[in-house]
Amino acid sequence: MELAAAKAAIHDVLKKVASDHFVQLVEWLKTTNDFDEYCADNNEILLRSIAEDLRGCLPIGAMLSSEPLAFKKTQQNPEPTVHIDAFLFDDDLIDSLCEKGKMSRNYCLSCGSHKTAPLAFISHSFSPLEIKFLFHHVLPDLSGKILIDVGSRLGAVLFGGYLYSAASQIIGVEINADFCQLQQVMIEKYQFSDKVQVVCADICTRGSLLKSADVIVMNNVFEYFLDKEEQIRTWQFICFTLKKKGALLVTAPSLQESLSQLQTGIQLNQWVQEVPLDYNVYLGRETDVDALKQLHLYEVL
Ligand SMILES: C[S@@+](CC[C@H](N)C(=O)[O-])C[C@H]1O[C@@H](n2cnc3c(N)ncnc32)[C@H](O)[C@@H]1O
Repeated sequence: MELAAAKAAIHDVLKKVASDHFVQLVEWLKTTNDFDEYCADNNEILLRSIAEDLRGCLPIGAMLSSEPLAFKKTQQNPEPTVHIDAFLFDDDLIDSLCEKGKMSRNYCLSCGSHKTAPLAFISHSFSPLEIKFLFHHVLPDLSGKILIDVGSRLGAVLFGGYLYSAASQIIGVEINADFCQLQQVMIEKYQFSDKVQVVCADICTRGSLLKSADVIVMNNVFEYFLDKEEQIRTWQFICFTLKKKGALLVTAPSLQESLSQLQTGIQLNQWVQEVPLDYNVYLGRETDVDALKQLHLYEVL
């Protein structure tokens, strides 16, 4: 059906609606999620398709036996915590897995009873909405720029960078070889290799690469993956290496929060200046302003 005919058909339907139901119908049209799949842009659909492929390659917890420290640190959280990867699972998917008994939002307070409390969730990836926020609202036009995602894991930032930005090179540096392999498979399948590359390495061994970057993304890279001494050494290396005036650094959470428990000796006000962000943006019905507020932008002085 052509556009004009489709519009006419909709008008026809509206004319036939009983007058006492008309207001309810219009309200439903304005608020329903039923049309979401028709409104999603091509890039969102591609990201969803990559996430679906990745879910097929990973256990439901999206963590691997090759990252034992991350398991240990998750268990050491004061509240019972589970890892649910926000790039792979949106709320609807979590609900449907909970209904099937494959996932739970709650834990039992006294075993065998119905007394339950909500589990704390953490994600080791940005969600598709955070990625959209990052490229549409946090970063400027990246034409010709080099972006490095430190700790690229599943590649969410790399794929988002390819689809939502004009960056000329998008490079992930990931220490875990299993995740590097997985990212490589997706880069090849989705034909992103003209701009996207994954380097399997500890970021501390890639100083000259880091120095070449115009934009550096760091989504809670070290807290769950390195012990405290290694975190301190790595942050000192990053601060020492990242001296390109005007380079942009995006972190989640803030640098202040990431460094607060570590004796790094880094003087933030001599290294970077925070750029204020507007978090009041609507990115769709799943917009979670609290999650967006975790992202912070800094300019290297
Ligand atoms: C929280 S994930 C970030 C995922 C991804 N950047 C995103 O936003 O979706 C952190 C990743 O950093 C990796 N990592 C930790 N320390 C690293 C290091 N020194 N060099 C490179 N990667 C590191 C971990 O293996 C993990 O996969």
